[in-house]
Amino acid sequence: MTRPIGMPEASLIGPLAGFVAFWLGHVAILTFSLNRWYARPYSRLLLRWVRRGHAFLVVAGPAAAWWFGGLDLWAALEATPNGAAYVLGAMYLIVCWLAGLMILPGLTIGRLVQRPPSALLSNHTRTIDVSAELGFAPSGSGAYRWLTRLPGNDVFRVDFCERTLRLPRLPAAWDGLTILHVSDLHFAGTPDRHFFGYVFDRCRDWGEPDLLAITGDIVDSDQHDRWIVPLVGRLRWRVGAWAILGNHDREHDPQRIRRRLHRAGISVLGNRWERRLLRGEPLTVIGHEGPWFTPGPRLDDCPADGFRLCLSHTPDNLPWARRHGIDLMLAGHNHGGQIRLPVIGAIFVPSRYGRRYDCGTFDEPPTLLHVSRGLSGQQPVRFRCRPEVTWLVLRATRQAGNLEGRSV
Ligand SMILES: [Fe+2]
Repeated sequence: MTRPIGMPEASLIGPLAGFVAFWLGHVAILTFSLNRWYARPYSRLLLRWVRRGHAFLVVAGPAAAWWFGGLDLWAALEATPNGAAYVLGAMYLIVCWLAGLMILPGLTIGRLVQRPPSALLSNHTRTIDVSAELGFAPSGSGAYRWLTRLPGNDVFRVDFCERTLRLPRLPAAWDGLTILHVSDLHFAGTPDRHFFGYVFDRCRDWGEPDLLAITGDIVDSDQHDRWIVPLVGRLRWRVGAWAILGNHDREHDPQRIRRRLHRAGISVLGNRWERRLLRGEPLTVIGHEGPWFTPGPRLDDCPADGFRLCLSHTPDNLPWARRHGIDLMLAGHNHGGQIRLPVIGAIFVPSRYGRRYDCGTFDEPPTLLHVSRGLSGQQPVRFRCRPEVTWLVLRATRQAGNLEGRSV
Protein backbone atom coordinates (compact mmCIF):
# COMPACT_ATOMS: atom_id res chain seq x y z
CA MET A 1 0.00 0.00 0.00
CA THR A 2 1.42 3.38 -0.97
CA ARG A 3 1.60 6.27 1.47
CA PRO A 4 -0.82 9.16 0.55
CA ILE A 5 0.87 12.38 -0.55
CA GLY A 6 1.43 14.70 2.40
CA MET A 7 1.28 11.96 5.05
CA PRO A 8 4.54 11.64 7.04
CA GLU A 9 6.38 8.34 7.11
CA ALA A 10 5.40 6.10 10.04
CA SER A 11 8.86 6.55 11.59
CA LEU A 12 8.28 10.31 11.66
CA ILE A 13 4.86 10.25 13.32
CA GLY A 14 6.22 9.58 16.83
CA PRO A 15 8.88 12.36 16.77
CA LEU A 16 6.40 14.74 15.10
CA ALA A 17 3.79 14.08 17.80
CA GLY A 18 6.48 14.56 20.45
CA PHE A 19 7.54 17.87 18.91
CA VAL A 20 3.94 19.14 18.67
CA ALA A 21 3.31 18.10 22.31
CA PHE A 22 6.48 19.94 23.32
CA TRP A 23 5.31 23.12 21.57
CA LEU A 24 1.82 22.84 23.05
CA GLY A 25 3.26 22.47 26.54
CA HIS A 26 5.74 25.29 25.90
CA VAL A 27 2.87 27.62 24.89
CA ALA A 28 0.80 26.50 27.91
CA ILE A 29 3.69 27.29 30.29
CA LEU A 30 4.21 30.73 28.71
CA THR A 31 0.48 31.44 28.89
CA PHE A 32 0.47 30.39 32.55
CA SER A 33 3.34 32.80 33.16
CA LEU A 34 1.85 35.73 31.19
CA ASN A 35 -1.52 35.48 32.95
CA ARG A 36 0.20 35.77 36.34
CA TRP A 37 2.29 38.74 35.23
CA TYR A 38 -0.87 40.56 34.14
CA ALA A 39 -2.56 39.87 37.49
CA ARG A 40 0.04 42.00 39.27
CA PRO A 41 0.02 45.80 39.57
CA TYR A 42 2.99 46.39 37.29
CA SER A 43 3.25 49.36 34.94
CA ARG A 44 1.84 49.16 31.44
CA LEU A 45 5.32 49.68 29.98
CA LEU A 46 6.78 46.72 31.85
CA LEU A 47 3.81 44.51 30.97
CA ARG A 48 4.13 45.48 27.31
CA TRP A 49 7.74 44.24 27.25
CA VAL A 50 6.81 41.13 29.21
CA ARG A 51 4.11 40.39 26.62
CA ARG A 52 6.55 40.88 23.74
CA GLY A 53 9.08 38.65 25.47
CA HIS A 54 6.53 35.88 25.89
CA ALA A 55 5.39 36.22 22.26
CA PHE A 56 9.03 35.94 21.15
CA LEU A 57 9.55 32.82 23.24
CA VAL A 58 6.43 31.15 21.80
CA VAL A 59 8.21 31.09 18.43
CA ALA A 60 11.85 31.09 19.54
CA GLY A 61 11.50 28.06 21.83
CA PRO A 62 10.47 25.55 19.16
CA ALA A 63 12.79 27.19 16.60
CA ALA A 64 15.75 26.73 18.96
CA ALA A 65 14.68 23.16 19.71
CA TRP A 66 14.47 22.40 16.00
CA TRP A 67 17.89 23.93 15.40
CA PHE A 68 19.32 21.89 18.27
CA GLY A 69 17.81 18.52 17.61
CA GLY A 70 15.45 18.52 14.66
CA LEU A 71 12.15 16.73 15.02
CA ASP A 72 13.18 13.97 17.42
CA LEU A 73 14.09 16.00 20.49
CA TRP A 74 14.55 13.07 22.84
CA ALA A 75 16.94 11.30 20.48
CA ALA A 76 18.90 14.53 20.12
CA LEU A 77 19.12 14.83 23.92
CA GLU A 78 20.32 11.25 24.24
CA ALA A 79 23.09 12.06 21.78
CA THR A 80 24.14 15.03 23.91
CA PRO A 81 27.00 14.54 26.38
CA ASN A 82 25.78 14.40 29.97
CA GLY A 83 26.06 17.82 31.55
CA ALA A 84 24.04 20.82 32.68
CA ALA A 85 22.62 21.42 29.19
CA TYR A 86 21.49 17.80 28.97
CA VAL A 87 19.84 17.83 32.40
CA LEU A 88 18.10 21.19 31.87
CA GLY A 89 16.99 20.28 28.36
CA ALA A 90 15.60 16.92 29.45
CA MET A 91 13.81 18.49 32.42
CA TYR A 92 12.20 21.20 30.30
CA LEU A 93 11.17 18.70 27.62
CA ILE A 94 9.52 16.46 30.21
CA VAL A 95 7.75 19.42 31.85
CA CYS A 96 6.45 20.56 28.44
CA TRP A 97 5.21 17.08 27.61
CA LEU A 98 3.46 16.84 30.97
CA ALA A 99 1.86 20.26 30.45
CA GLY A 100 0.86 19.58 26.84
CA LEU A 101 -0.30 15.97 27.17
CA MET A 102 -1.67 15.76 30.72
CA ILE A 103 -2.19 19.03 32.62
CA LEU A 104 -3.77 21.10 29.82
CA PRO A 105 -6.11 18.32 28.62
CA GLY A 106 -6.93 17.39 32.23
CA LEU A 107 -7.83 20.95 33.20
CA THR A 108 -9.82 21.40 29.99
CA ILE A 109 -11.83 18.22 30.54
CA GLY A 110 -12.37 19.21 34.17
CA ARG A 111 -13.85 22.54 33.07
CA LEU A 112 -16.00 20.93 30.39
CA VAL A 113 -17.66 18.55 32.86
CA GLN A 114 -17.96 21.16 35.61
CA ARG A 115 -21.56 21.75 36.63
CA PRO A 116 -22.91 25.20 37.45
CA PRO A 117 -23.16 25.82 41.21
CA SER A 118 -26.47 24.91 42.83
CA ALA A 119 -26.69 28.50 44.07
CA LEU A 120 -27.29 29.55 40.45
CA LEU A 121 -31.04 28.96 40.33
CA SER A 122 -31.66 30.23 36.82
CA ASN A 123 -29.64 31.63 33.96
CA HIS A 124 -31.20 33.21 30.87
CA THR A 125 -29.47 35.19 28.15
CA ARG A 126 -30.87 37.41 25.44
CA THR A 127 -28.35 38.43 22.78
CA ILE A 128 -28.81 41.70 20.93
CA ASP A 129 -26.78 42.69 17.87
CA VAL A 130 -26.31 46.38 18.59
CA SER A 131 -24.99 47.04 15.06
CA ALA A 132 -28.21 45.68 13.56
CA GLU A 133 -30.36 47.65 15.99
CA LEU A 134 -28.50 50.90 15.34
CA GLY A 135 -28.29 50.35 11.60
CA PHE A 136 -24.53 50.89 11.55
CA ALA A 137 -21.40 49.46 13.15
CA PRO A 138 -20.55 51.67 16.15
CA SER A 139 -16.80 51.35 15.54
CA GLY A 140 -16.10 54.92 16.62
CA SER A 141 -12.70 56.57 16.57
CA GLY A 142 -10.53 54.41 18.84
CA ALA A 143 -7.03 53.40 17.83
CA TYR A 144 -8.07 49.77 17.41
CA ARG A 145 -11.35 50.38 15.56
CA TRP A 146 -10.10 48.39 12.55
CA LEU A 147 -10.28 45.25 14.71
CA THR A 148 -14.08 45.53 14.85
CA ARG A 149 -14.18 44.57 11.15
CA LEU A 150 -12.57 41.18 11.70
CA PRO A 151 -14.91 38.38 10.57
CA GLY A 152 -16.60 36.68 13.52
CA ASN A 153 -15.83 39.49 15.95
CA ASP A 154 -18.70 39.60 18.47
CA VAL A 155 -17.75 42.93 19.97
CA PHE A 156 -21.15 44.50 19.15
CA ARG A 157 -23.29 41.45 20.04
CA VAL A 158 -24.24 41.96 23.67
CA ASP A 159 -25.55 39.31 26.06
CA PHE A 160 -28.21 40.61 28.42
CA CYS A 161 -27.92 37.98 31.15
CA GLU A 162 -30.49 37.31 33.86
CA ARG A 163 -29.22 35.22 36.75
CA THR A 164 -31.07 34.20 39.87
CA LEU A 165 -28.77 33.52 42.81
CA ARG A 166 -29.57 31.80 46.08
CA LEU A 167 -27.78 33.29 49.05
CA PRO A 168 -28.24 31.50 52.38
CA ARG A 169 -27.65 34.62 54.50
CA LEU A 170 -29.91 36.89 52.47
CA PRO A 171 -32.51 38.49 54.78
CA ALA A 172 -35.99 37.22 54.01
CA ALA A 173 -37.12 40.82 53.53
CA TRP A 174 -34.74 41.09 50.56
CA ASP A 175 -36.05 38.08 48.67
CA GLY A 176 -36.18 39.19 45.05
CA LEU A 177 -33.69 42.04 45.43
CA THR A 178 -32.30 43.04 42.02
CA ILE A 179 -28.82 44.23 41.06
CA LEU A 180 -27.75 45.56 37.67
CA HIS A 181 -24.08 44.61 37.30
CA VAL A 182 -22.05 46.53 34.70
CA SER A 183 -18.31 46.14 34.27
CA ASP A 184 -15.30 47.01 32.10
CA LEU A 185 -16.69 49.79 29.93
CA HIS A 186 -13.21 50.84 28.70
CA PHE A 187 -14.42 54.13 27.21
CA ALA A 188 -11.77 54.90 24.57
CA GLY A 189 -13.66 55.75 21.38
CA THR A 190 -14.35 52.16 20.25
CA PRO A 191 -17.11 51.10 20.60
CA ASP A 192 -18.56 54.57 20.17
CA ARG A 193 -20.99 56.28 22.55
CA HIS A 194 -24.03 55.12 20.54
CA PHE A 195 -23.17 51.54 21.47
CA PHE A 196 -23.05 52.23 25.20
CA GLY A 197 -26.09 54.52 25.04
CA TYR A 198 -28.10 51.79 23.33
CA VAL A 199 -27.01 49.08 25.81
CA PHE A 200 -27.74 51.24 28.84
CA ASP A 201 -31.15 52.22 27.45
CA ARG A 202 -31.99 48.56 26.83
CA CYS A 203 -31.08 47.78 30.43
CA ARG A 204 -34.22 49.70 31.31
CA ASP A 205 -36.25 46.86 29.74
CA TRP A 206 -35.56 45.01 32.97
CA GLY A 207 -37.10 47.85 34.96
CA GLU A 208 -35.23 49.76 37.65
CA PRO A 209 -32.88 47.58 39.69
CA ASP A 210 -32.75 48.01 43.43
CA LEU A 211 -28.95 48.33 43.27
CA LEU A 212 -26.46 49.25 40.54
CA ALA A 213 -22.89 47.90 40.74
CA ILE A 214 -20.08 49.03 38.42
CA THR A 215 -16.90 47.02 38.88
CA GLY A 216 -14.16 49.10 37.29
CA ASP A 217 -12.23 49.83 34.10
CA ILE A 218 -14.52 52.72 33.26
CA VAL A 219 -12.18 54.49 30.84
CA ASP A 220 -9.20 53.61 28.69
CA SER A 221 -8.06 57.01 27.41
CA ASP A 222 -7.30 60.48 28.79
CA GLN A 223 -10.25 62.01 26.92
CA HIS A 224 -13.20 59.70 27.33
CA ASP A 225 -13.96 60.29 31.00
CA ARG A 226 -16.26 62.92 29.47
CA TRP A 227 -18.56 60.09 28.44
CA ILE A 228 -19.18 59.09 32.04
CA VAL A 229 -21.86 61.61 33.00
CA PRO A 230 -23.95 61.44 29.80
CA LEU A 231 -23.68 57.64 29.42
CA VAL A 232 -23.44 56.16 32.91
CA GLY A 233 -25.95 58.81 33.94
CA ARG A 234 -28.56 57.02 31.78
CA LEU A 235 -28.61 54.08 34.18
CA ARG A 236 -31.31 53.98 36.84
CA TRP A 237 -31.68 52.38 40.28
CA ARG A 238 -34.00 52.54 43.23
CA VAL A 239 -31.87 52.27 46.38
CA GLY A 240 -28.18 52.74 45.68
CA ALA A 241 -25.49 52.80 43.01
CA TRP A 242 -21.83 52.03 43.73
CA ALA A 243 -18.69 51.89 41.63
CA ILE A 244 -15.03 51.05 42.01
CA LEU A 245 -12.12 51.65 39.64
CA GLY A 246 -9.95 49.11 37.85
CA ASN A 247 -6.38 48.82 36.63
CA HIS A 248 -7.05 50.74 33.40
CA ASP A 249 -8.59 53.64 35.32
CA ARG A 250 -5.34 53.96 37.25
CA GLU A 251 -3.63 55.07 34.03
CA HIS A 252 -6.04 57.95 33.30
CA ASP A 253 -6.42 60.42 36.17
CA PRO A 254 -8.43 58.28 38.59
CA GLN A 255 -9.48 61.25 40.73
CA ARG A 256 -11.16 62.84 37.71
CA ILE A 257 -12.93 59.55 36.93
CA ARG A 258 -14.17 59.37 40.53
CA ARG A 259 -15.48 62.96 40.31
CA ARG A 260 -17.32 62.23 37.06
CA LEU A 261 -18.92 59.09 38.49
CA HIS A 262 -20.00 61.08 41.52
CA ARG A 263 -21.60 63.67 39.22
CA ALA A 264 -23.49 60.81 37.53
CA GLY A 265 -25.00 60.01 40.93
CA ILE A 266 -22.80 57.00 41.65
CA SER A 267 -21.24 56.45 45.06
CA VAL A 268 -17.56 55.71 44.41
CA LEU A 269 -16.38 53.30 47.06
CA GLY A 270 -12.64 53.09 46.46
CA ASN A 271 -11.20 50.75 49.09
CA ARG A 272 -13.87 51.68 51.63
CA TRP A 273 -17.13 50.33 52.94
CA GLU A 274 -20.55 51.89 53.37
CA ARG A 275 -23.48 50.72 55.40
CA ARG A 276 -27.15 51.39 55.06
CA LEU A 277 -30.49 49.97 56.05
CA LEU A 278 -32.41 48.21 53.32
CA ARG A 279 -35.96 47.08 54.09
CA GLY A 280 -34.98 47.33 57.74
CA GLU A 281 -31.91 45.09 57.38
CA PRO A 282 -28.26 46.25 57.40
CA LEU A 283 -26.34 46.12 54.12
CA THR A 284 -22.58 46.66 54.02
CA VAL A 285 -21.19 47.48 50.57
CA ILE A 286 -17.41 47.12 50.32
CA GLY A 287 -15.13 48.27 47.53
CA HIS A 288 -11.87 46.47 46.71
CA GLU A 289 -9.67 48.11 44.09
CA GLY A 290 -6.57 46.11 44.96
CA PRO A 291 -3.95 45.28 43.99
CA TRP A 292 -3.88 48.41 41.82
CA PHE A 293 -5.08 50.89 44.43
CA THR A 294 -3.66 50.33 47.91
CA PRO A 295 -4.05 49.85 50.80
CA GLY A 296 -6.92 47.45 50.41
CA PRO A 297 -10.13 47.80 52.42
CA ARG A 298 -9.87 47.56 56.22
CA LEU A 299 -12.89 46.08 57.95
CA ASP A 300 -11.59 46.34 61.53
CA ASP A 301 -14.28 48.83 62.50
CA CYS A 302 -16.98 47.38 60.23
CA PRO A 303 -19.94 45.89 62.13
CA ALA A 304 -19.96 42.12 61.81
CA ASP A 305 -23.72 41.80 61.36
CA GLY A 306 -25.64 42.23 58.14
CA PHE A 307 -25.24 41.12 54.55
CA ARG A 308 -21.88 41.93 52.94
CA LEU A 309 -21.73 42.84 49.24
CA CYS A 310 -18.26 43.42 47.79
CA LEU A 311 -17.40 45.10 44.49
CA SER A 312 -13.93 43.96 43.45
CA HIS A 313 -12.39 44.66 40.07
CA THR A 314 -10.54 41.37 39.96
CA PRO A 315 -11.95 38.02 41.11
CA ASP A 316 -8.45 37.31 42.46
CA ASN A 317 -9.64 38.96 45.68
CA LEU A 318 -11.93 35.99 46.34
CA PRO A 319 -9.71 34.53 49.12
CA TRP A 320 -9.79 37.94 50.84
CA ALA A 321 -13.58 38.00 50.45
CA ARG A 322 -13.93 34.53 51.98
CA ARG A 323 -11.72 35.47 54.92
CA HIS A 324 -13.88 38.54 55.55
CA GLY A 325 -17.27 36.86 55.37
CA ILE A 326 -18.40 38.44 52.10
CA ASP A 327 -21.76 37.02 51.04
CA LEU A 328 -21.76 38.20 47.42
CA MET A 329 -18.81 39.49 45.41
CA LEU A 330 -19.19 41.07 41.98
CA ALA A 331 -16.14 41.34 39.73
CA GLY A 332 -14.99 41.87 36.15
CA HIS A 333 -11.44 42.41 34.83
CA ASN A 334 -10.97 39.05 33.09
CA HIS A 335 -13.39 39.75 30.21
CA GLY A 336 -13.94 36.00 29.88
CA GLY A 337 -10.62 35.94 28.07
CA GLN A 338 -12.19 37.81 25.10
CA ILE A 339 -11.06 35.02 22.77
CA ARG A 340 -12.39 31.56 23.61
CA LEU A 341 -11.31 28.62 21.49
CA PRO A 342 -13.69 25.72 20.86
CA VAL A 343 -13.29 23.03 23.55
CA ILE A 344 -10.23 24.69 25.15
CA GLY A 345 -11.99 27.94 26.15
CA ALA A 346 -10.20 31.09 27.29
CA ILE A 347 -6.45 31.46 26.86
CA PHE A 348 -5.35 34.89 28.04
CA VAL A 349 -6.93 35.65 31.42
CA PRO A 350 -5.06 38.24 33.52
CA SER A 351 -5.46 36.39 36.79
CA ARG A 352 -3.13 34.64 39.18
CA TYR A 353 -5.62 31.77 38.99
CA GLY A 354 -5.37 31.64 35.21
CA ARG A 355 -8.75 30.89 33.63
CA ARG A 356 -10.31 29.43 36.79
CA TYR A 357 -12.47 32.54 37.34
CA ASP A 358 -12.61 33.76 33.73
CA CYS A 359 -16.36 34.47 33.86
CA GLY A 360 -19.55 33.18 35.43
CA THR A 361 -20.76 32.26 38.90
CA PHE A 362 -18.66 30.49 41.52
CA ASP A 363 -19.82 29.31 44.92
CA GLU A 364 -16.98 29.16 47.43
CA PRO A 365 -18.69 29.54 50.82
CA PRO A 366 -19.22 31.82 52.47
CA THR A 367 -18.83 33.83 49.25
CA LEU A 368 -20.82 33.63 46.04
CA LEU A 369 -18.86 35.26 43.21
CA HIS A 370 -20.17 36.55 39.91
CA VAL A 371 -17.56 37.51 37.29
CA SER A 372 -18.87 39.57 34.39
CA ARG A 373 -17.32 39.34 30.93
CA GLY A 374 -17.69 43.12 30.83
CA LEU A 375 -18.91 45.30 28.00
CA SER A 376 -15.69 46.18 26.25
CA GLY A 377 -11.89 45.96 26.45
CA GLN A 378 -8.74 47.77 25.46
CA GLN A 379 -8.73 45.86 22.18
CA PRO A 380 -12.24 45.55 20.64
CA VAL A 381 -11.86 41.85 19.91
CA ARG A 382 -14.25 39.17 21.08
CA PHE A 383 -14.51 35.71 19.63
CA ARG A 384 -16.99 33.27 21.18
CA CYS A 385 -17.02 35.62 24.19
CA ARG A 386 -19.72 38.25 23.83
CA PRO A 387 -19.93 41.42 25.95
CA GLU A 388 -22.23 41.14 28.95
CA VAL A 389 -24.49 43.16 31.23
CA THR A 390 -26.11 41.23 34.05
CA TRP A 391 -29.38 41.45 35.91
CA LEU A 392 -29.07 39.58 39.19
CA VAL A 393 -32.05 38.49 41.26
CA LEU A 394 -31.19 37.47 44.82
CA ARG A 395 -33.26 34.82 46.49
CA ALA A 396 -33.29 33.60 50.05
CA THR A 397 -34.94 30.34 49.03
CA ARG A 398 -34.50 27.69 46.37
CA GLN A 399 -37.28 29.14 44.23
CA ALA A 400 -36.05 30.55 40.91
CA GLY A 401 -37.68 33.25 38.86
CA ASN A 402 -37.18 36.84 37.89
CA LEU A 403 -38.87 39.26 40.21
CA GLU A 404 -38.01 42.27 38.13
CA GLY A 405 -39.73 45.47 39.00
CA ARG A 406 -40.21 44.61 42.66
CA SER A 407 -40.02 47.67 44.81
CA VAL A 408 -38.14 48.10 48.06
FE1 LIG B 1 -11.10 45.51 31.86
